[in-house]
Amino acid sequence: MIDLDQGWRTERLDLEPLTADHAAELAPVLDDAALHEFIGGAPLPARALAQRYARLAARRSPDGEQLWGNWVMRVRATGLAVGTMQVTMPAGGPAAGPAEVAWVVGLLAQGRGYAKEAACGLVALLREAGWTVAAHIHPAHLASQRVASTAGLSPTQEVQDGEIRWVTSSERSGTLAEDPFGGRPPTSHERMTGEPWDASYRDGPAPWDTGRPQPAVVRLASEGRFAGAVLDAGCGTGENALHVASLGLPVLGFDVAETALAVAQATAGDRGIEAEFAAADALQLERLGRTFETVLDCGLFHTFDGDERPGYVASLASVTGHGGTLYVLCFSDDGPGTGPHPVSQAELRAAFTPVTGWNVTAIESARVQTNYHDDDGAPAWLATIKRI
Ligand SMILES: C[S@@+](CC[C@H](N)C(=O)[O-])C[C@H]1O[C@@H](n2cnc3c(N)ncnc32)[C@H](O)[C@@H]1O
Repeated sequence: MIDLDQGWRTERLDLEPLTADHAAELAPVLDDAALHEFIGGAPLPARALAQRYARLAARRSPDGEQLWGNWVMRVRATGLAVGTMQVTMPAGGPAAGPAEVAWVVGLLAQGRGYAKEAACGLVALLREAGWTVAAHIHPAHLASQRVASTAGLSPTQEVQDGEIRWVTSSERSGTLAEDPFGGRPPTSHERMTGEPWDASYRDGPAPWDTGRPQPAVVRLASEGRFAGAVLDAGCGTGENALHVASLGLPVLGFDVAETALAVAQATAGDRGIEAEFAAADALQLERLGRTFETVLDCGLFHTFDGDERPGYVASLASVTGHGGTLYVLCFSDDGPGTGPHPVSQAELRAAFTPVTGWNVTAIESARVQTNYHDDDGAPAWLATIKRI
């Protein structure tokens, strides 16, 4: 059992049990509205902070249901207090539920890995004592997501008050915990990188995740070229789907990357946009049992190799209503500055043929924006393909 009245240490930090006396020292460290951007509330003056710390120093909630552990993070080399570490545990022990951790580091001490070090230390102590560990993190708080990920937590699809629930693996149920590919065969891209797609989203924004819809998609939308029920294939964090949904169309975005889907769901909630996001394999879309009038593929087609494309094209056909439209935005081979997996017009025309249920009606030059090209992005094709 972890002793909440005891301190503990990490490589560079001493963690001291929090008392009301720490308030005077910590009030200036934590006196910054920016610290509350993702956790709500506002900085407290020293007196109010002392009252709060006095309550926390009881180490137990007034109803006795929860145990509270709070520690000051003190840098051993300088003697300076830089933040706090917290755990809330059911008094009934590990069988009664997970231990919930949280942390805050003053702005001046950020970027030095103190939160990671303290979170890793606390999670290790808790796990040794038999606890599973959970944290709730705002989807836009990338620094905290990196801390959680380093401490061995993974995001779930659960969203509570706009925050994503992260847990240590022993609490994760189902295939994802044991099989990073969730029971499906890895795609050629995943075999090449040796990692599931989800890994691209776990440690900060993926290279293609610009946090905005692609201008080519925005243009299509402004021209009224999305109609009826819309499917966004490989939607990632959902910026394109959310843009289309914000125009009032019913949209389902799907992806195999659970982290990206959790971000998409939380962003939809934050922006008050109604859109559906679900885990699905682009190579098994018939399992959705639904059809759509417009389908968007922004950056998915080009990740599939020649062996996978026929299966993907058939899978798309199974969910696109006859007369419906598919838009494929992919990296083009028309350089300079081509992106990875460049695709030729001939490859697009070879994949989508009348025999496979499709008619390519236009292929236009376009651009795809990424986090590693300049503002103009990379050369792309925007193909308009009709379902026969
Ligand atoms: C290059 S990213 C593009 C993401 C998003 N469309 C965008 O524009 O930001 C490709 C996306 O396809 C997803 N993906 C790859 N293979 C998939 C599959 N078999 N089924 C569903 N999604 C897949 C990846 O997880 C990733 O989110």
